[in-house]
Amino acid sequence: MMRLLIVCLGNICRSPMAEGALRARLRAARGLDDRVVVDSCGTGDWHVGEPPDPRAIRNAASHGVDIAGLRARSLCDADFDAFDVLLCADASTLRIVESRRPPGSPAQAALLLDWAGTGGGDVPDPYTGAAAGFESVWWQVDAAAAAIVARMEGGASRDRA
Ligand code: 4NP
Repeated sequence: MMRLLIVCLGNICRSPMAEGALRARLRAARGLDDRVVVDSCGTGDWHVGEPPDPRAIRNAASHGVDIAGLRARSLCDADFDAFDVLLCADASTLRIVESRRPPGSPAQAALLLDWAGTGGGDVPDPYTGAAAGFESVWWQVDAAAAAIVARMEGGASRDRA
């Protein structure tokens, strides 16, 4: 079982969109969705308990993915035990995650786009920008999700061989 936690700032835009994209691609890859646990959270607590931003919900829906049922939560100490990899939306999130790491925690922390192998760098925060920012987030996080699933499918077929 691989446990992945996607982390951004508010947990209402980038990380729920990435969670939705990854869940959808895992489901489509038959059999992988019960080998991978996916969750998301934010480093901030302003939006705890809230659904994703309406623009994020609308954008994901336009790509056939329903994220309306997700609720924001903030990063906690237990996440460093409960997950194998904390996948951060941007460098600032990664710095905050590392600063909150409990001593001795084995969890890996990485940039989402680095770990996925889709070119690295940040997924820019779309919160204060135009609607087009959400479409650009979608393409980044969905490409990352596709790359992660493709790598796992490669591993799964090697396991079977
Ligand atoms: P996210 O976007 O980190 O992609 O969820 C943000 C949402 C809310 C805030 C910042 C970023 N905020 O400051 O409330």
